[in-house]
Amino acid sequence: MRSKEVHLIERPQGLPTLAQFRIAQTELADPAEGELLVQNIYLSVDPAMRPRLAGAAALNEAMMGGAIGRVLKSRNLLFKEGEIVESMNGFREYFISDGKGLSTLKPDGMPLVAYMSVLGLTGLTAYGGLLIIGALKEGENVFVSAAAGAVGSVAAQIAKIKGCYVIGSAGSDEKCRWLKDDLGLDAAINYKKGELRTSLKAAAPNGIDVYFENVGGEHLNAALPRMNALGRIAVCGMISAYNNFGAVSEPVTTLSNMIYNRLTMRGFVFYEFESKRAQFLADMKGWINAGRLKYRTTILRDIEQAPAALIGLFTGMNTGKMVVQLAEG
Ligand SMILES: NC(=O)c1ccc[n+]([C@@H]2O[C@H](COP(=O)([O-])OP(=O)(O)OC[C@H]3O[C@@H](n4cnc5c(N)ncnc54)[C@H](OP(=O)(O)O)[C@@H]3O)[C@@H](O)[C@H]2O)c1
Repeated sequence: MRSKEVHLIERPQGLPTLAQFRIAQTELADPAEGELLVQNIYLSVDPAMRPRLAGAAALNEAMMGGAIGRVLKSRNLLFKEGEIVESMNGFREYFISDGKGLSTLKPDGMPLVAYMSVLGLTGLTAYGGLLIIGALKEGENVFVSAAAGAVGSVAAQIAKIKGCYVIGSAGSDEKCRWLKDDLGLDAAINYKKGELRTSLKAAAPNGIDVYFENVGGEHLNAALPRMNALGRIAVCGMISAYNNFGAVSEPVTTLSNMIYNRLTMRGFVFYEFESKRAQFLADMKGWINAGRLKYRTTILRDIEQAPAALIGLFTGMNTGKMVVQLAEG
C-alpha cells in the first residue's frame, strides 16, 4: 500500500516556507502478527510543532503530530478493524503500528472532528488551564489571548459559562466579530489595530483577575499592569515566540506588578489534567449539547495541504481548530 507523508527537508528560520517541506511517498507492507494498519482521517495542526522544527523533529522523515484514524487491518488483539484510534502518527496518510501509543476512541454520538478540538487535547488544555491553573471563580474578569483560536475560543467560552466578564484578543475584525456576536464575549480586541496596552485598558474597566496566556511578548506586557490583586496568569503558550530560535520571546518589562498585586504566573501542560478527563468530557458534552459552547474547525483537505496548515497558524489562517482532513470521518 502506498502512503504519502510530510517530511521536513530544511530547518526554518522565522516563519516556515512551503519549500522547507516535501510530500514523500512510502510503500507500506501488510501488517505482521501483532501489528495493525491505520488510515488517518484527521491530522491535528498545533503551534507546538513549530519549535520542534528547530531541532527535535528529524529531517527527511514523516513528521509527528496528533491524529485520529480508522483501523483498516488488524493482527493485534487489542484493536479491531473499523475502530477509531488516536495517535501521534500524524502528517501521513497511513501507518503500520504495533499498537504502542495508540488509544481507541469511542465518539459517543459526537462528531469525530470534535475530538480534534473541544473534546480532545485542545479542550482539555482550555478546561484545565482556566479552571485548575487559573483557579477561575464565578464572576471574575478574564482576558484570553489568541481567543479566536482552538484553545482560546474554548477557554473564553468556559469563562462566559462561569459568569465571567471576558475579553478576547484576535488578529482580525472578523475574528473579533465572531468572538462578540457568536461566542458572547464582552469585549474583543483586534491586537493588530492600535496599541494593545491602550485597547486592553479600555476593555478591562475592572481589571483582570485571570489572564489565559496563549501569545506572550507584547500581550503579556499589556496584561500585567491590568492584573488585579491576587490575579492568576495561566501560561498555556507563547505563540509570538515560536518562530524565534529557542522560542525566545520579546522582552517582558512590566513584571513589577507581580509584586504589588501579588500575582501568580504558572505554566502548564495539558497532560497534568488527565485525571480530570471524565469530568471534562461530561461538562463539555453537556455545554455543547445545550448550545452553550460552540466550536469551529478550519479544515484543509489532503496531505499536500498539511505544511500550509502549519504555516497558517502563524498567519492567523484559522478560526477555531486547524485540522487537515484526509478521509471521510
Ligand atoms: N500548554 C499546553 O498543554 C498547550 C496545549 C495546546 C496548545 N498550547 C498553546 O496554546 C496556544 C494556542 O494553541 P492553539 O492550538 O489553540 O492554536 P490556535 O490559537 O488555534 O492558532 C494559533 C493562532 O494564534 C494567533 N497568532 C499567531 N501568531 C501570533 C502572534 N505573533 N501574536 C498573536 N497571535 C498570534 C493566530 O490568530 P490571530 O489571527 O488572532 O493572530 C492563530 O490563528 C499556543 O501558544 C499553543 O502552543 C498549549
